Amino acid sequence: MNTNPGSSTEAARPALRWLLRAESASKSFAGTRALIGADVRITPGESVAIMGPSGSGKSTLLHVLAGILPADAGTVILNRSDGSGHDDLAALSEDARSSLRLRRFGFVFQQGMLLPELTAAENVALPLLLAGTARAEASARAEFELTRLGLAGLGERRIGQLSGGQAQRVAIARAPVTGPSLIFADEPTGALDSHTADGVLDALLQAGCGPDRALLVVTHDAQVASRCDRIIRLRDGQIEGEV
Ligand SMILES: Nc1ncnc2c1ncn2[C@@H]1O[C@H](COP(=O)(O)OP(=O)(O)O)[C@@H](O)[C@H]1O
Ligand SMILES: [Mg+2]
Repeated sequence: MNTNPGSSTEAARPALRWLLRAESASKSFAGTRALIGADVRITPGESVAIMGPSGSGKSTLLHVLAGILPADAGTVILNRSDGSGHDDLAALSEDARSSLRLRRFGFVFQQGMLLPELTAAENVALPLLLAGTARAEASARAEFELTRLGLAGLGERRIGQLSGGQAQRVAIARAPVTGPSLIFADEPTGALDSHTADGVLDALLQAGCGPDRALLVVTHDAQVASRCDRIIRLRDGQIEGEV
């Protein structure tokens, strides 16, 4: 199933067969085998949920796929958006990996990871400013993303002056602002009540999906997972199945 509005245009463009591929990726922490031999393939336009009990390795998988944590074994490969080849995340220097994360990935975490001393608009604009975008353009794009997520007029508020649901929408507005190929979300609705979580999930699916973009969302909420195109299930660090 693919419910993205842009997917009908996929036939017209030379679509990449896959965006990100992990093969036999493993990660241990001081004797804890957090991730064991994970094979994952993410294709453009899809939304993928990662589910599993607490401690099953969901966050580890997300961090390994995003190049935040290096895998101990196996590979994680990202296709270039211009079709010129692909990059093995482990083969890049730390600097090159951070720069690639900034350009190609967007992130949403449970607690939003917003800077409280900045306004909502400044928080959304921050990844663009870090990437060297001029301030006026960064502000305009931040305003666009905030408006898209129903936060028009709230851009000048500091994070503490927003409700939990509004603050999480700000975190979601920030993720697509640089035009990333992949958005990673780790329990993005975990700190919200179920009504607020529904609206925030709508926002995430809207912001995170597109013909050239995929969404990877860690959740233990079956409701959230059921709205994604497929579900990867983890148990004790191993992928035990897909739906
Ligand atoms: N930085 C770390 N140091 C030590 N152990 C860790 C670290 N991160 C995760 N773990 C362990 O790895 C396993 C998987 O953790 P995690 O990926 O966070 O699970 P989940 O996100 O599914 O709750 C757990 O046993 C956890 O305690
Ligand atoms: Mg986790």
